[in-house]
Amino acid sequence: MDIRKLRKSDVKQLEYIENELFDNPFSEKSCMEELSLENRLYIGLFDENNMLGYAGASVAFEVADIIKVGVLKSEQGKGYGKMLLASLIEMLAKVGVTEIILEVEHQNYKAINLYLSFGFEEISERKNYYGENSHAKILRKELKNEN
Ligand SMILES: CC(C)(COP(=O)(O)OP(=O)(O)OC[C@H]1O[C@@H](n2cnc3c(N)ncnc32)[C@H](O)[C@@H]1OP(=O)(O)O)[C@@H](O)C(=O)NCCC(=O)NCCS
Repeated sequence: MDIRKLRKSDVKQLEYIENELFDNPFSEKSCMEELSLENRLYIGLFDENNMLGYAGASVAFEVADIIKVGVLKSEQGKGYGKMLLASLIEMLAKVGVTEIILEVEHQNYKAINLYLSFGFEEISERKNYYGENSHAKILRKELKNEN
């Protein structure tokens, strides 16, 4: 297994995972935009050349927003989500990020457990953000600046 930054040439595999996991996936064009933007950090977990999962964030000075974390359904529950999130947080800390924010659907227990296990704390909830009875939890984690 190998975790590395995503490149534009990874766009097809990124789009594939998006389509498998999300109801409103990024299109190929949006995936390409995400991979091209200066303020984005996307990483993927690869077995040989096959992307099994990815994680992405946008960075604005010392604050980062986690955009998505996703692992192919057949590969979930093997610790890959944790590996991706750990790497992403480490890379964000290295570029000077001190605060990470994200939003997650209130019944997405797998993702919520994952984030809580990394010390994220709920700071607010946006009612019906994703649709009726589908609320967004806003989670936050502070990073210690060890520089
Ligand atoms: C959320 C997701 C990335 C987790 O990836 P994963 O590789 O399955 O997770 P891991 O095997 O590394 O498990 C990490 C933690 O997630 C939580 N978790 C994983 N599977 C779970 C399950 N079935 N039920 C509850 N919590 C679960 C646990 O806290 C687990 O830690 P533990 O094993 O120490 O208990 C994955 O389920 C996924 O891709 N989901 C669909 C996309 C999504 O909703 N992404 C998040 C919003 S963008």
